[in-house]
Amino acid sequence: MTDGHTGIRSTRSATRGGAGVRGGTAGGHVGPSSTGLSPTEPAIVTPPSAGSASTASPSAGPAAVTPPSTGSALAGAGRPLPRARGPITAWLFDRLARPPHRFDPPPLPGPARPVNGAAAVDVPPAADPAPLLDEDLQLALFACYELHYQGFDGVDERWEWNPSLLETRGILEARFEEGLARAVPRPSAGPELSAVPRSTAPKPPVAPVPSAGPKPSTAPKSSAVPVPSAGPAAWMRRALTELVAADDGPALSAYLQREADLEQFREFVVHRSIYHLKEADPHTWAIPRLRGQAKAALVEIQTDEYGGGRAERMHAELFRVTMRRLGLDDSYGAYLDRVPAVTLAISNTMSLFGLHRRHRGALLGHLAAFEMTSSLPNRRYGRGLRRLGGDEAACSFYDEHVQADAVHEQIAAHDMCGGFAAAHPELAGDVLYGAACALALDRLFATHVLACWRRGATSLREHGGGEVTSGPGR
Ligand SMILES: [Fe+2]
Ligand SMILES: [Fe+2]
Repeated sequence: MTDGHTGIRSTRSATRGGAGVRGGTAGGHVGPSSTGLSPTEPAIVTPPSAGSASTASPSAGPAAVTPPSTGSALAGAGRPLPRARGPITAWLFDRLARPPHRFDPPPLPGPARPVNGAAAVDVPPAADPAPLLDEDLQLALFACYELHYQGFDGVDERWEWNPSLLETRGILEARFEEGLARAVPRPSAGPELSAVPRSTAPKPPVAPVPSAGPKPSTAPKSSAVPVPSAGPAAWMRRALTELVAADDGPALSAYLQREADLEQFREFVVHRSIYHLKEADPHTWAIPRLRGQAKAALVEIQTDEYGGGRAERMHAELFRVTMRRLGLDDSYGAYLDRVPAVTLAISNTMSLFGLHRRHRGALLGHLAAFEMTSSLPNRRYGRGLRRLGGDEAACSFYDEHVQADAVHEQIAAHDMCGGFAAAHPELAGDVLYGAACALALDRLFATHVLACWRRGATSLREHGGGEVTSGPGR
C-alpha cells in the first residue's frame, strides 16, 4: 500500500529507532540580506500572512535575473565551466578547456590557505576547517567530480578518466580528506563491535524471491527481511541515533521557519540547489558496492528519491519546481559561481565517499545522517515558505521530505547501516565517521549562513561571476 504521494509503503513504522534532530535556536536578530539574486518577483502566488516577519520583496540590486527559465521537466545540464577562484582552478580550467592531454600534477600551494571573505565562518579554533572552506580547492574538486555527473559544456567527456586529471584529483582529495579528518573527530566503533570476531559476524539474511512482478511497487520491500535485533546491527542503530541526537548545530531550519525574509529563503534555496538538483546521485554510487540487506535498503530509499518511476516525482524535479516558484533559475549548476566553499564541500564530501569503494561505509553513514536529520527541518522549511507566501507547488519538495524521510531514516539506520554493520563489523567506524562528516558540514554551513545574515550580509559569493542570469545559454 502506498500513500499515493511518495510511493512509500505506509506500513513501515515511523517510530522504529527514531532519531532526533538538532535543537537550539538561531538566537539574536538577523538583519536583511542583499543577495543580488533578483529584482524579479518570485512566482509564488499566495500572499504572505498578516504579521509575517517577511518583507516579501526581494532586494533590488544590480545583479539582475531575467525571468526564470520555462523549466522543461528534463532539461539537460548545459553549463560552462565556472569562474576560477584561484591558482588551482585557473590552472585546471585552462586544461579542461582543451582536448584531453597528459600533464604533470599542478604545483599546489603549501599549507591550506585561509578562507576568503565570502566564506568567513565562525568556527572554534580547535576544529580548524581551512581545507573545507578553501574556495579554490573546493571548486577544483567539485569540477573534477562533476565530470562524473553531468559534466560541463565545452569540456571533452574523455577528461572523466584521463590519468593526469585523476592524479590531480587524487592530490586535491588528499588535502580535502586531511581537512575532514582534522575537522571531524572519528567516532569510536565501540567495544561491542570490536568484540565481534569477523568470522562469527551475522550473515546478511537472504530475501525471499518474489513470486511475480518485477516492478518496484510490487517487489518485496527490505522490511520483509529482519535485521538482527542484537549485535552490530543494533549497536549501529543506537550509535547513529545518539550521534544525531548529540548534534547541537545552529537551528537554521527554525530561523527559516519563523524569521527569514523571502530573499533569505531564496538564498537558502540557491545554496541547496547545488546538491538538490542532483539529489540522491552521489549515494547511488554505493549500490554496486554492496550486497544483501544493505543493498536492498539503499535501493529502496533511492527508488523514492528518484520518484518511483515518475520523472515528475523525482526529488530533484520537485526542487526545480520550488526554484521556479521562487523566481530562481532551475537549470543545473546555474548558481555554481555564487555558492561558497562550504556549500561545495557538502557536495564534495558525498562525491568523495561515493567515488571511492574504500569509503562505502562512510557513504552509507552519510546518507543515514541526512535522512535522520531531514523530516523535522523540512517541516520547518515548508512552514517558513508558506509564511512567506509559498503555495502548494512551491512547498511540495519540503512536504515530500516530511513524509518520505520519516520512513527513510528508519530504513537507513536499521536496514541499511544496521545490515551493513552486521555484514562488515570492521567497517562500522567508517559508517559513523561518514555520519559525523555529514553533521559537521551541515553545522559549518548553518553557522556560515546565520553569521552572514546576522551581519546583514549575503551568505552567497558577491563577486562570484557577476550577473546571475537565468535560462539556458548563459
Ligand atoms: Fe529526497
Ligand atoms: Fe530521503
